[in-house]
Amino acid sequence: MCGIVGYLGDKNSKEILLSGLKELEYRGYDSAGIAVLQNGKVDSFKAIGKLVNLEEKTKDYITEDFSIGIGHTRWATHGKPTELNAHPHIGDESYVVHNGIIENYAELKKQLIADGVTFLSQTDTEVIVHQFEKNLKISDSAFEAFRKTISELKGAYATLLVTKGESKTIFFAKNGSPMLVGVNDDNEKYFASSDTPLIGQCSDVNYFEDGDYGYVTPTELAIFTKDDVKKEAIFTKLSTNKLSAQKDGFRFFMEKEIYEQSSVIADTLLGRLYDDEILFDELDDSLFDGINEIKLCACGTSYHSALTATYLFERYAKIKTSVEVASEFRYRQPIMSKDTLFVVISQSGETADTLETLKMAKAAGLKTLVICNVDNSSMVRLADACILTRAGVEKGVASTKAFATQVTVFWMMALYLAKRNNSLSSQEIVKQINLLREVPSIVKVEDEMHERIKRLSKRYLHGHGFFFIGRDVFYPLALEGALKLKEISYLHAEGYPSGEMKHGPIALADPELFTIALLPQHLLYEKAKSNVEELSARDSTICAISSLAFDKADDFIPINECTDYMLEFFEMMIVVQIFSLEISARLGNDVDMPRNLAKSVTVE
Ligand code: G6P
Repeated sequence: MCGIVGYLGDKNSKEILLSGLKELEYRGYDSAGIAVLQNGKVDSFKAIGKLVNLEEKTKDYITEDFSIGIGHTRWATHGKPTELNAHPHIGDESYVVHNGIIENYAELKKQLIADGVTFLSQTDTEVIVHQFEKNLKISDSAFEAFRKTISELKGAYATLLVTKGESKTIFFAKNGSPMLVGVNDDNEKYFASSDTPLIGQCSDVNYFEDGDYGYVTPTELAIFTKDDVKKEAIFTKLSTNKLSAQKDGFRFFMEKEIYEQSSVIADTLLGRLYDDEILFDELDDSLFDGINEIKLCACGTSYHSALTATYLFERYAKIKTSVEVASEFRYRQPIMSKDTLFVVISQSGETADTLETLKMAKAAGLKTLVICNVDNSSMVRLADACILTRAGVEKGVASTKAFATQVTVFWMMALYLAKRNNSLSSQEIVKQINLLREVPSIVKVEDEMHERIKRLSKRYLHGHGFFFIGRDVFYPLALEGALKLKEISYLHAEGYPSGEMKHGPIALADPELFTIALLPQHLLYEKAKSNVEELSARDSTICAISSLAFDKADDFIPINECTDYMLEFFEMMIVVQIFSLEISARLGNDVDMPRNLAKSVTVE
């Protein structure tokens, strides 16, 4: 995901900006850039790919004495990872870096183009700098122009702007995307989108609140609220531990990644949802010509998200879909016919078994698509087409946000195919698109819910096993819930279809068998409920997750009432993730690096 740094002071600003960006590398990016303003002259550099490319481009560039600078690492959303789309974006005499989304950029851009402005990039960010310069012409000061510009932006942003006429000032604004400023006794000012670039440079930092904007000069830090009221900075001491700073204050990367799901899903949806259709810029519609069947192949968590897709694709797009575990598919001499689209799903794009099935499909002449989180990975390079999930770097070995974004992509794909196949009414597609728009807020973790699960978790540290049960798409979610738990708690857990328990596993039922029951209100509620009652009658300990109270449960984790089962899916996903996390934490396990597991398995 994108990262921002800024510097004002007498030190070597190029080095400070580059080393700040290095500290943000872990967030993932595909291009980077800096702009330094010194003595009324701006030097700007951009490079695609890793920071070494930017370092190479700037190796002969030296900054001495006072200067101001801004820098950015970009994770492409609006427009491909190209140099032109990399930040800083340039006006006639101003430069801007930005994280987040300017929701009304199309509107602003249209007007600016009508005013005669030429845009160089496809990004939403570029409107900020042009809008600022437009306002500069009619304002008394650069700050007034900046204030006006910010008031005209809608969406989420953290942004820094410099302009030639104000060679000792950096303008800043924050709304929805994180940003902080650090100060020290040398009158330096440091900006960043997270703590790590500032560690070691300054000890006192102010975290901006939503709506804050203002400017810094060597002697001033002026902050205004969204209501244009000047306010004092609230300085806190910066941690000196980089690892803990990278976790943004969370105990574990996995926890941070669970909390990040709202913003990464918003990224997954970005530019793909329209009023009455889903569009994937990266797909050529002809990919689906002559396709009568879809075969999905993956491992681990990615397999579970793919299993979800089989329900959605058949239900909404009316296309025959099946899924297989890659390591099984490889050796069973499968029949591969050319009217099948072969889809591999992988967070890393490197999993050996999945990669091998992709090679097999290609060799058999099938059209191929990869749903992946890592651009330029082996699978992305090999497949005919690719949809990136945009989850950002996932550090926790137990996958969370990658799963969430994969399911989001599959839901979008189901609607994309439904439109193509005319299998859903346009009214239903519009309804579903509106539901998709709700997902980022649905997956926001509520403190009360987290606390409740944390308290409850102490009752689930033993026993002879867990059954996560669900029906339909809640069956893959049950599998995923059980996988999370076993991965990080080392307790035995299985995911099972609710209706299948009576065909064997129910023999295990006793108070030491924990059943985690997924009971969505909007999908087969009565059926799933009877399955749970069968277990309850045999004294299994039941923990029900539902928006409807369930009196046969020993424990109950309520979710918010939603209007659709897919929204309940995402609500429950958060619950099962946190449930595993808290059990593992109580057991004192290494949550982020569980024993015997690897994040990316590149061996067979
Ligand atoms: C490993 C990881 C799992 C992951 C699986 C597939 O086992 O520990 O979390 O689900 O590989 O990885 P992929 O990168 O292909 O999604």
